[in-house]
Amino acid sequence: MDKKMFASIANVDFDGVLINASGVHCQTSSELDELLNDEYVAAPVTKSATLNSRDGNPKPSYFEFKDGSINSMGLPNNGFEYYLNYVESHRNNKPIILSIASLSQEECIELLHKVQASDFNGITELNLSCPNVIGKPQVAYDFEATDKILSEVFSFFKKPLGIKLPPYFDLTHFDQIAAVLNQYPLSHVNSVNSIGNGLLVDLATEAPVIKPKGGFGGVGGHNILPTALANVRAFRLRLNQNIKIIGTGGVKTAEDVFAHILCGADLVSIGTELNKQGISLFKDLNEGLIKIMHDKGYNSVDEFRNGLKDI
Ligand code: SIN
Repeated sequence: MDKKMFASIANVDFDGVLINASGVHCQTSSELDELLNDEYVAAPVTKSATLNSRDGNPKPSYFEFKDGSINSMGLPNNGFEYYLNYVESHRNNKPIILSIASLSQEECIELLHKVQASDFNGITELNLSCPNVIGKPQVAYDFEATDKILSEVFSFFKKPLGIKLPPYFDLTHFDQIAAVLNQYPLSHVNSVNSIGNGLLVDLATEAPVIKPKGGFGGVGGHNILPTALANVRAFRLRLNQNIKIIGTGGVKTAEDVFAHILCGADLVSIGTELNKQGISLFKDLNEGLIKIMHDKGYNSVDEFRNGLKDI
């Protein structure tokens, strides 16, 4: 079976469609190496880097439950230079997506100036949606602030740049944020980050299952698949065609990967389930997707990508 699974974002070609969600299996160079060396991973994505390294929020900050997870990691990472060095020194292998986050607009601009001045010419992804930095809002819920940042960024940034978005839940909000995003030469949107500020209670202890923010954290995992698919679909229907989509959220099975691509995803990323099962999951999902394509008579992902039919 020779099924063609590929994607292209900003003239970067990906051999495959599966990647890790930023935050999972990507904080250290050895974790990134494992992704880089796995033939079923189309591209490693780094942990979102801030200017300075961070320990993240107090623990426990991650909890898995049936078909889901809740986290308030708080952007633990080894600092921007660590990840920039990694992507710069692994330029001849497969593509790597450099994810960055910031605690302020000034920091965001500083980081992107550093990327612009660097030898890294791959895809950078700006995380505007982390729900877990104590005292900081999720920027991409503020459409004016998002517009202001992107306007400043694209006045100097000339390399491929995408953004990671939070989930939206209102069709008017999809219209509004898409109108902002369509003004800019974004390489892609990554949709969705976790559903921010959920709360899960342990009935035995009568306390939240995670410590930071009084137990409030981002909800991920298979439970959020409908929200993730709706966001991928809503953006595919609204964004300029040259803004590609990385579908993130809810992926547990090859059927979920197929659904993401059908809704319009170019690449599909996996977080909670990758954390649960480890990187052998990529082979299983890849083989599962090949089987689905075989059963349905598709030879290439392009034959069904964005092909969601009317009921
Ligand atoms: C975190 O580090 O808190 C998770 C990353 C994110 O939600 O962007």
